[in-house]
Amino acid sequence: MSAWTICLIPGDGIGREVIPAGRALLEATGLPFAFVEAEAGWQTFQERGTALPEETLHAARTAQATLFGAVSSPLQPVEGYRSPIVALRRALDLYANLRPVISQPIPGSRPGIDLLIVRENTEDLYVGRERATEDEAVTERVITRRASERIVRLAFRLARERRKHVTIVHKANVLRATCGLFREAAFAVAREFPDVRADEMLVDTAAMRLITNPEAFDVLVTTNLFGDILSDEAAALVGGLGLAPSANINERQGVFEPVHGSAPDIAGRGIANPMATFGAVAMLLDHLGERQVASRVRQAIRTVLERGCLTPDLGGKATTAEVTEQVLRAFADLAETVGG
Ligand code: NAI
Ligand code: MG
Repeated sequence: MSAWTICLIPGDGIGREVIPAGRALLEATGLPFAFVEAEAGWQTFQERGTALPEETLHAARTAQATLFGAVSSPLQPVEGYRSPIVALRRALDLYANLRPVISQPIPGSRPGIDLLIVRENTEDLYVGRERATEDEAVTERVITRRASERIVRLAFRLARERRKHVTIVHKANVLRATCGLFREAAFAVAREFPDVRADEMLVDTAAMRLITNPEAFDVLVTTNLFGDILSDEAAALVGGLGLAPSANINERQGVFEPVHGSAPDIAGRGIANPMATFGAVAMLLDHLGERQVASRVRQAIRTVLERGCLTPDLGGKATTAEVTEQVLRAFADLAETVGG
């Protein structure tokens, strides 16, 4: 079997602690990976004047998948600094952002939740068409049929492998032009998938239902800003930042990352929770088609959480190294029981 090239970008802060843990887990799978380490982020910017060096972009472009830690961004705009993760998503045309939200066996997680938020990752209010005078500021919202169709098509394809239910989230009653186009494109795509149930919900109702009735959702598909907000809201239901992974993908490649940032308040102390990165590793494996290995990773995460081996963010005393060792051991035990 030919090797998959995996680009590793630790970034700043705890990115440098959780990405080595993620690499250890990838190595433990025994799959034929070739790793390329690349740098990006605030420290890189300070040393080299760019947050995303050309060779990092090249490494990510030529890899089948990238595991990205986190980067620090300055609070005030700094001349020449652009967020490397935003630039990567754009350069690689990673049009879909996937955020799985799954109940975990810890006190901070609600039970019964297994949903997936599929967020459009390239347009909406994030295209940067802004202008302002002293007294009026305008940000243009761009929604295209092409981008809407491809994100919704992906959502339906993913739903087919789950509980076959997609909720189309929009605000077409008010944003008639932009959300109207998204809604129309979404229902046109829905007709290609007669085996998947499609319904729709206004975004404000969806925000409420995520709190009152999250068990009812399977796949939610929505535009960029709504997805940004709903996915952070949903992550809080099941244990928060230390556990939340995400993927930025297209049909060819993906950048997989923990949702959290560089956490300067705890960086360098060896107590960062690596579970979100392990969840990102599981998503990376899914994307490469290694579904069984991915599900074994998720099971290992659950096993270790269930045992109460928790980092301080989840109320425990375990270190990054201890949690990593436990997950690797649980993963190996599962490999034995399934004979693979
Ligand atoms: P953050 O996610 O870094 O931290 C928020 C809080 O959660 C902190 O108290 C932190 O200690 C805790 N936390 C986060 N991840 C954790 C983990 N794995 N284990 C244990 N505790 C964890 O968000 P914050 O503080 O708003 O931003 C810090 C820096 O990260 C900023 O420079 C920001 O721009 C950047 N950032 C980068 C992101 C990325 O690279 N995708 C995403 C979000 C923020
Ligand atoms: Mg966000």
